[in-house]
Amino acid sequence: MQVLIPEAEIRTRVRELGGRLSEQYQGRPLTILGVLTGSVVLLADLIRATSIPLRVALIEASSYSGARTRPGVLQIDSRLVPDLKGRDVVILDDIFDTGHTMSGLYDAVAAFEPASVRSAVLLWKSARTVVNLEPDYFCFQIPDAFVVGYGLDYNDEFRNLPYIGIPDDADLQEAVRRNPDGAGRTGPTAAP
Ligand code: IMP
Ligand code: MG
Repeated sequence: MQVLIPEAEIRTRVRELGGRLSEQYQGRPLTILGVLTGSVVLLADLIRATSIPLRVALIEASSYSGARTRPGVLQIDSRLVPDLKGRDVVILDDIFDTGHTMSGLYDAVAAFEPASVRSAVLLWKSARTVVNLEPDYFCFQIPDAFVVGYGLDYNDEFRNLPYIGIPDDADLQEAVRRNPDGAGRTGPTAAP
């Protein structure tokens, strides 16, 4: 698999993001709201790169559809979200692609009446963004390629890679073979 962003570069940028958030939210009631499931690796590293008191919370977002290769209807499950009223919220996701997911998350979070809402992501595929919204914080802007690793999956595989990679056709076929019951994911249109 082609490595797009090596582990060491991710570590550097995530630490920088932790430092920025610590400066900007010092003295504020910060809640970092991780988006399941892709953000869990980033969430774990990011919170250890911060130096201010904060709360950690989780929300689930997924796009279900019959076809594995096309994004479907956005589903947001906020049953795990604690009270955010009056708090400063940073929604943390793995990737900002078209932006539909983050846009839907903003609406869901607004219902909790937080004091402020911002978004942070590891990756921003800016050429594909279609919503009238940009991530407030991002670690890397990347080209329009399907990527996996560091929390991002294809067919529930590859989340455990410590780097961000671009899988080739053989990698994708292997992921399906290894995990025939995988949930399937929005992926490259040429996916098996
Ligand atoms: P958006 O709604 O188009 O911004 O897509 C965001 C969601 O799609 C992310 O939370 C990911 O779950 C998924 N996604 C988008 N691009 C990729 C990718 O290159 N690899 C893996 N998942 C992706
Ligand atoms: Mg996701």
